[in-house]
Amino acid sequence: MPTGSTTLSDAEFVVVANRLPVDLEKLPDGSQRWKRSPGGLVTALEPMLRSREGAWVGWPGLADADVEPLVEDGLQLHPVRLSAQEVEEYYEGFSNGTLWPLYHDVVAPPMFHRHWWQAYVRVNERFAEVVAGVAARNATVWIQDYQLQLLPAALRRLRPDLRIGFFLHIPFPPTELFMQLPWRRRIIEGLLGADLVGFHTPGGTRNFRWLATRLTDATPGQGRTEVTYDGRTVKLGAFPISIDSAALDKLSRTPEVLERAKQIRADLGDPAKVVLGVDRLDYTKGIDVRLRAFEELLSEGRVDPEDVVMIQLATPSRERVEHYQKMRNDIEQSVGRINGEYARVGHPAVHYLHQSLPREELAAFFVAADVMLVTPLRDGMNLVAKEYVACRHDNGGALVLSEFAGAAYELKDAILVNPHDTDGVKNALHVALTMPREDAAKRMRALRRQVLTHDVDRWARSFLDALGLPPADGSAS
Ligand code: ADP
Ligand code: F6P
Repeated sequence: MPTGSTTLSDAEFVVVANRLPVDLEKLPDGSQRWKRSPGGLVTALEPMLRSREGAWVGWPGLADADVEPLVEDGLQLHPVRLSAQEVEEYYEGFSNGTLWPLYHDVVAPPMFHRHWWQAYVRVNERFAEVVAGVAARNATVWIQDYQLQLLPAALRRLRPDLRIGFFLHIPFPPTELFMQLPWRRRIIEGLLGADLVGFHTPGGTRNFRWLATRLTDATPGQGRTEVTYDGRTVKLGAFPISIDSAALDKLSRTPEVLERAKQIRADLGDPAKVVLGVDRLDYTKGIDVRLRAFEELLSEGRVDPEDVVMIQLATPSRERVEHYQKMRNDIEQSVGRINGEYARVGHPAVHYLHQSLPREELAAFFVAADVMLVTPLRDGMNLVAKEYVACRHDNGGALVLSEFAGAAYELKDAILVNPHDTDGVKNALHVALTMPREDAAKRMRALRRQVLTHDVDRWARSFLDALGLPPADGSAS
């Protein structure tokens, strides 16, 4: 965690994201401390950026916090200040009340408010000013995610010398859904300020290309992977993000993690099977889907609560946004109902932790789980699915994965499910619980080949190569 400033200088390589990799937290006694920020974006980018000794520009996670730039472990952190009203309108409002549900197949209704949009514009412009003051001449700036889609163009206006990449960590929506957005053209123009716009899947790239040529003056470029706009070539591409697979594989083999995994199973009463879910507490993740499937299997007697225990770990997320509050109530009610019906004293059927756990502890849960349930209704990638696979050096365990997670494009040997089909999810869970060990191991070996060879370094390298940035150590790639 940050310890204070050493040297700050103009940065050759700058990552910009809504959040810094660390979050400032206010404790009940009024003091403040830094903790790791939630979500897959930080998981993916932090190791890569540390190896480059670049700068990271982002919000420190508290409203009205005046934080000076600082250097932590070779990484420059440049805070962008947001007022309480901006947090409400730009972050909770436009980013998470408009764009998040719209881009996730409108699984919750998006809300369109003009004052949220205005705050989004203002905050994107503020980010542009901060980045313009941090980046060295001709530096490379890599902008992350849906909160900052206007930033590429805003930054180019201030600093035309910069090389600008943008990567979207969530799905880019079908064109019919995107067209609902009253400010659709402005968003596309904002993204077209980049030299390279990256998505997780080829579908996202196609949707964006179609919209760019319909809504703006962009014209199709030479290949399918570029457009010409404002006299420049804007490259487009699919870059499926990943994890630091080798590090997680290594962590999961340590005696401490193996011992802790045994302890977890013992604490659960050494059940025959442990089923696990790990998510940010988000309505797109389909936590309700898997609870319903588990409950029905219990009620039909296809699963015996004496043999099978479910654990749901859920990091608190966006707690002031209405959809999130409702979903939390619903999930906690379901957990209560299932336990009311099927638990006995000292032996719950579902263990639910509304907590963020350290990496080592998470790895131990992955090692301990016989079945991993990843059932989002829509997800850009879903790194949890890859983390589970990376932790299964024993080729044990089975992964049940939603077809609507970006990860399903790569993890073909998972047990794939349609999360809208409750019977399908129930059957998949049942199959995973009863699959012969050799069959499960065969699938897991194939999954591990994919995850261990397609790690986050490869993702970053392929994006930065496409952007034209030389490798970090100066060697040829
Ligand atoms: P998203 O980016 O939407 O949050 P991902 O699955 O891509 O979804 O990434 C989530 C990240 O958060 C993963 O690295 C995962 O390990 C981590 N995570 C999820 N739940 C927890 C938890 N309860 N405690 C600690 N880390 C968690
Ligand atoms: O890509 C998903 C994402 O929104 C990231 O931008 C972010 O790091 C993560 O989820 C966590 O969300 P939040 O920053 O809103 O807590």
